[in-house]
Amino acid sequence: MIKTVYFEDDVVVVLDQRKLPGEVVYEKLDTVEKVAEAIKLLMVRGAPLIGVTAAFGLAMAVSQFKGSREELKSYFKQAKDLLASTRPTAVNLFWALNRMEQVFNQYAGEDVEIIKKKLKQTALKMYEEDIKVNEAIGEYGSELLPVSARVMTICNAGAAATCGFGTALGVVRAGFNKGRVDKVWACETRPVLQGARLTVWELIQDNIPVTLITDNMAGYVMNLGNVDVVVVGADRIAANGDTANKIGTYSLAVLAYHHNIPFYVAAPLSTIDLNIGSGGDIPIEERDKDEVRKIKDFYITVEDVDVFNPAFDVTPNHLIKGIITEKGVITPPFSEGIKMLKGK
Ligand code: MRU
Repeated sequence: MIKTVYFEDDVVVVLDQRKLPGEVVYEKLDTVEKVAEAIKLLMVRGAPLIGVTAAFGLAMAVSQFKGSREELKSYFKQAKDLLASTRPTAVNLFWALNRMEQVFNQYAGEDVEIIKKKLKQTALKMYEEDIKVNEAIGEYGSELLPVSARVMTICNAGAAATCGFGTALGVVRAGFNKGRVDKVWACETRPVLQGARLTVWELIQDNIPVTLITDNMAGYVMNLGNVDVVVVGADRIAANGDTANKIGTYSLAVLAYHHNIPFYVAAPLSTIDLNIGSGGDIPIEERDKDEVRKIKDFYITVEDVDVFNPAFDVTPNHLIKGIITEKGVITPPFSEGIKMLKGK
């Protein structure tokens, strides 16, 4: 299984996902500023991985602290705020940072060395938990797949987006291991190409048959009768089930609805934000216009053309057949199922 983030001594090391699939390069990030920059630049991406990497970054920042215990609180808050400012949509980022803060507050009266140790332990625990959560999502999700399923997905909700195994690709992996998956249709996912670069790379490594299409081919492939099910990841799920995920997900959901193809969201419960009632309130990140104007270093359009570049869109709950979590599959009406599982 690929390692997406780890500690080397007390330094955070991440797989540089911008370079995949051409090069497998690990980067040492020895300051919290470098960790924040890595998240912003998509060196590290995918909702669960962003959260865990931020937790690693916060633990590292505290491990480097040299002042008195009185000064530690504001130092901690500064590092936490910096990490929280990197990307607005994936709620896992805030979930992970808040969990670190709870531990910090719990041990605030202890010796600084104890606080450092507890924070590192918590970050490592989140890493281990994430893998287990994904495996459970895979187990539940794979049972929903028809025999010989042809699964369509978008972006990368795989091992690269998590600490291992993946959410949507976790469902594919578990299904493939049970002999239920025939092939995957991977949408390339313009403009950053997470589907073409990461999903294809991961699936080929696992010998899972994959066919790459550009995003605008999805409707045609569905109309040909070549898709049995769509499974995607999520960056934030509102209390009513509306789901923010990579731009293009909403179009896939509408197409799936039109072609009567089941559309599932696979995500850990930490991606569900009970503070957000419905999708309209989910903050949607807008990224640099050059992501659309350029492919790698080349302009594919007029250099200063205006561009709209939202990184995510929102799929309304009525287009979703089920939300696959580590504690089971939530089906409509989502508000009730979400409340029940989040309460467990
Ligand atoms: O901009 P990205 O690459 O961080 O977007 C990632 C996605 O949209 C994923 O589908 C989502 O985070 C789920 S990852 C398990």
